[in-house]
Amino acid sequence: MQQEIYQESKRYALQRLQEEADFLKSKEYSAVLYYRKEHTLTVVGLAGKLAEKTGADRQTCEIGAWFHDLGKCHNPRLTIEENKLRQRDHGFYGAEEAREFLSKRNAHRDLVDEVYIGVKNHVGLTREVKEPMAPLSAAVIWDADKLSKIGWSAWLHFLAYTTNREREEQSLLKLLNRDGLETMEMICQHFNTDIARKMAEKRMDNYRKNLPHLEGVLQGDI
Ligand SMILES: [Fe+2]
Ligand SMILES: [Fe+2]
Repeated sequence: MQQEIYQESKRYALQRLQEEADFLKSKEYSAVLYYRKEHTLTVVGLAGKLAEKTGADRQTCEIGAWFHDLGKCHNPRLTIEENKLRQRDHGFYGAEEAREFLSKRNAHRDLVDEVYIGVKNHVGLTREVKEPMAPLSAAVIWDADKLSKIGWSAWLHFLAYTTNREREEQSLLKLLNRDGLETMEMICQHFNTDIARKMAEKRMDNYRKNLPHLEGVLQGDI
């Protein structure tokens, strides 16, 4: 039953992500690299990995990951104003969308509640409370989303985001955005789980080590 709900959630999320891609195309953005879908696929992968390592329920975490940013996806059945409202509180609207979808399919009450909490609370880059989030699935969804913003995957996603949204000419060197390092270091202080912290450290080590090399190559110094 849960496997069926997982597959339906995946199909639904991919369709909603496609609606956002179509909306961007209609705005004449390039959308060659579609950021939101790339980011979601990465977060789903990380959520599964972190669930496995922490003992959280894998499908709950992955379903949460599929839904986590749907609040940001343009919904063609709503007005422009309604869509703007969703953008302002995408955690809440994504959680509502997930709850409606899962309830209609008679998903187990615990699954609906956990996905709701995980999606609603995944927003922001920092957390005010030091203790890990509860339930564990919400902690995993938060960590998977934040981990996707650390290291080279973050840079590739940023590149995809830029090619998706900006029509101005961009410089690769500028996109490397050394200031991004500070943001990544800040995010690293707010993980819930030890495994996410360890993975983030590995990513940061590689990023710090290889960023000057890539900058040098782009400038022709190497
Ligand atoms: Fe988000
Ligand atoms: Fe996200």
